[in-house]
Amino acid sequence: MNISLKNLSHEYDIEVLDQLELELEDVSSVALIGVSGSGKSTLLRLMSGIEKPTRGLIKVNDTLTSLKAYKKRVGFVFQYHNLFPHLTLERNITLILEKTRNVPKEKAVEIAQKNLQALQLGDQMHKLPKNVSGGQAQRASIARALSLDPDVIFLDEPTASLDPILTHEVLMAVKKLRELGKDFVFATHVISFVRDFADYVVFMEKGKIVEHGKPNILENPKTAAFKDYMQKVH
Ligand SMILES: Nc1ncnc2c1ncn2[C@@H]1O[C@H](COP(=O)(O)OP(=O)(O)OP(=O)(O)O)[C@@H](O)[C@H]1O
Ligand SMILES: [Mg+2]
Repeated sequence: MNISLKNLSHEYDIEVLDQLELELEDVSSVALIGVSGSGKSTLLRLMSGIEKPTRGLIKVNDTLTSLKAYKKRVGFVFQYHNLFPHLTLERNITLILEKTRNVPKEKAVEIAQKNLQALQLGDQMHKLPKNVSGGQAQRASIARALSLDPDVIFLDEPTASLDPILTHEVLMAVKKLRELGKDFVFATHVISFVRDFADYVVFMEKGKIVEHGKPNILENPKTAAFKDYMQKVH
């Protein structure tokens, strides 16, 4: 995928992203890292078109992310799965396919089952989210994102609410995204996750991109901020 940020700023009551500049071409998995509050989730929301930036330009695959057509081409996995609690895992997927993509019911079931099975949820798909584990629910959200056949999937700390075993489950699901050739951008605090899955790393602090590059920048942080961060996460 290509990502282009030009003079990108975003504010709520305060400036949250401050004049970001980034040009990436032909990357397949980008990790956003940085301390809590540095702006990772905000940047993911702008990249996925969930929110519109206050100023500047943001394009993914040469398309403005504020365009309606763009939003149909991307998927989002939130920190805490946001499955509908009253619907089974399968219905969580088929409903969206039917309502937002006009996929006929039978085809929707076929797509949902295929993706749930790909994420080892074949035996869980008729359960409600509250009756599966956190890792399974999170994998179901990844299956839901995949079912929309997006060009790019955005994941905001997909393992944040999980214990180490469930984290492993979700990481395997992310690996699956890779195998399926999907491009993705993810925010995380888990550095091993970055090492395993990212082909590009963006380190943020206080709403700015402080360092970015191939994952080997993790081994040799240049700025005091990044050095400090790497020391703290270890
Ligand atoms: N909807 C909002 N309204 C007001 N301020 C917000 C909103 N969302 C985020 N912020 C502020 O923007 C800043 C960046 O938040 P953001 O959630 O992007 O950080 P983050 O890097 O994802 O942090 P974390 O690692 O804790 O998830 C924070 O100071 C936060 O308080
Ligand atoms: Mg966040």
